[in-house]
Amino acid sequence: MCGIVGYLGISKAAPVLLSELRCLEYRGYDSAGVAVIEDGRLAVLKAAGKLSNLETLLTDVQPSATVGIGHTRWATHGVPNDQNAHPHLDCTSTLAIVHNGIIENYLELREELTAAGHAFSSETDTEVVAHLIEDELKHNQDDMLLGIRKAVQRLKGAYALGIVSQKHPNTIYAVNHHYSLAVGLGDNESYLASDSVAVCQYTKKVLRLAQSEIAEITTAGARLFSFAGVEVKRNPVSMDSTQFVMDKQGHKHFLLKEIHEQPVVLRRTIGKYLIHPGKPINFAGVSDHGSYSARFSDEELKRIERIKIVACGTAFHAGLVGKYIIEELCGIPVDVETASEARSRRQLVDEKTLAIAVSQSGETADTLSAIGEAKNKGAIVLGITNRPDSHLSLLCPHLLVTECGIEVSVAATKTFTAQVACFYLLAIYLAERKGLLPEDRIFALKAELLRTPALIERILASQEEIREKSIAYSDAQGMMFIGRGVHYPVALEGALKLKELSYIHASGYAAGEMKHGPIAVLDEKVPCLTMVIPGTVYEKTLSNAQEAKARKARMIAVAVEGDELVGKTFETVFSIPPVSEFFSPLISVVPLQLMSAFIADHLGKDVDQPRNLAKSVTVE
Ligand code: M6R
Repeated sequence: MCGIVGYLGISKAAPVLLSELRCLEYRGYDSAGVAVIEDGRLAVLKAAGKLSNLETLLTDVQPSATVGIGHTRWATHGVPNDQNAHPHLDCTSTLAIVHNGIIENYLELREELTAAGHAFSSETDTEVVAHLIEDELKHNQDDMLLGIRKAVQRLKGAYALGIVSQKHPNTIYAVNHHYSLAVGLGDNESYLASDSVAVCQYTKKVLRLAQSEIAEITTAGARLFSFAGVEVKRNPVSMDSTQFVMDKQGHKHFLLKEIHEQPVVLRRTIGKYLIHPGKPINFAGVSDHGSYSARFSDEELKRIERIKIVACGTAFHAGLVGKYIIEELCGIPVDVETASEARSRRQLVDEKTLAIAVSQSGETADTLSAIGEAKNKGAIVLGITNRPDSHLSLLCPHLLVTECGIEVSVAATKTFTAQVACFYLLAIYLAERKGLLPEDRIFALKAELLRTPALIERILASQEEIREKSIAYSDAQGMMFIGRGVHYPVALEGALKLKELSYIHASGYAAGEMKHGPIAVLDEKVPCLTMVIPGTVYEKTLSNAQEAKARKARMIAVAVEGDELVGKTFETVFSIPPVSEFFSPLISVVPLQLMSAFIADHLGKDVDQPRNLAKSVTVE
């Protein structure tokens, strides 16, 4: 979603701001803008659409300013146009502001400020902040820190701000309130970004703002203050910039690159916690942000009577796989709920509940809110995330970090399989620590988990065959994905991938549910993709597939190599290497990811940045 950047130093600000903004493009946006202080005056340039539009404006103007802030906006209040793009100005056009998040009481503030004579030029909630600070500065002799502190005390909501004023041309001010902001510290240069990804290209020394903090940033560094005005001392951390490398490595899209990274990512994620089938799982980890752990005390383990998983989108599907795995192995009841629903009703969790939040970004507003509530109710809290520097990581006393590196494509792929791998690790860990399974079974489970990356490699090697088979379905009017048991969440994930990438409507169903309604949509133009992996639900699923075939649907299967029965029922088979039913979700999702990528590419869609979507959904 929205992204904030800033720069002040010795180089021209515009190219640096653009380059920082480019790093945030993957998060999704629909307009962009910058404010620089050029010859002592504030200059604002903004444009709806892609960053290239802003780049054209900047190429025409060629500002030589060495101070500025920038923004990519994902529209919430007001349509995506030039007017609503950030930065926004106060009435005197001497103060510019960029903003992530939502000012919940903006209507009330806008009315009050309008009545006091302020003129607004956009529909955004952001603009009230510029006018509010302007008002406060009038009463505080242009003391920026005091003016900002007074203004933020009137704001409701979660937000991050970047602010420049032509009256204070050598400083950028930044505010973080339940959002995310980082300051990069260079030699006589400082950078600001809502995601450290953007500053890591320039410096590894990063200072993150904690909740409800204001930063006064100069070329010499940054001073941090609480909203009460007390200075806060914190040392910068040294970031590992290699995890943020944004390079397609020869692939046509980041999506394909990320699908291909899965064996490596799984080896890293599984290998971090499990080095050998004969060794116990060790849930301790270290990142640039310190050490973390998902190790439970004996007392906590005894306490856990049920598990509640909250997540959104693909992470929710990973949670659903988690339910099947944990219930199967540990016999502990598991509920999984989309975080937006969990937070909208009474959550029945208590100190006997292990509450798990799954979020690639660790910044998804609904997930943070749902897990925050579970924590307040006394649940034992575990986060599964790809970002140890995220909000979620701060919130969760227990943490499992997936080792995916940055996922640039909006569609989650490698982070899904890594999250699912974490659930396997967790289930085996719980079974082992609680003594629920014999040692040889635990050994066999660990050994099989360690072998899964190699199976994905075999699927990836047949990519060209999968491409050919996939594009034959590019003219589908819709597609149904069905599966039973542990294959059901995989069917849901396959449907989500196809619709978000290709915009072909797709639905995932429990195979047994099809005859209760969904079968009505099947015909020659709506193919049915069935997950038919040998195991407890194989025969029943094949029967459901026959029902679809009888409605003239074109039939696609994900099945294991050499399954002759499947070959007779389905016109297209995506083969996967033999794998147990239990571990199959890690493998069987890969052809679905590839199929969606190839269909979307064939249809000429923006594969890495599908329309209307954002990578981190930081609004509710
Ligand atoms: O960062 P998160 O894992 O919390 O994000 C959750 C969803 O927004 C995300 O998985 C989304 O559904 C993706 N577009 C799926 O590809």
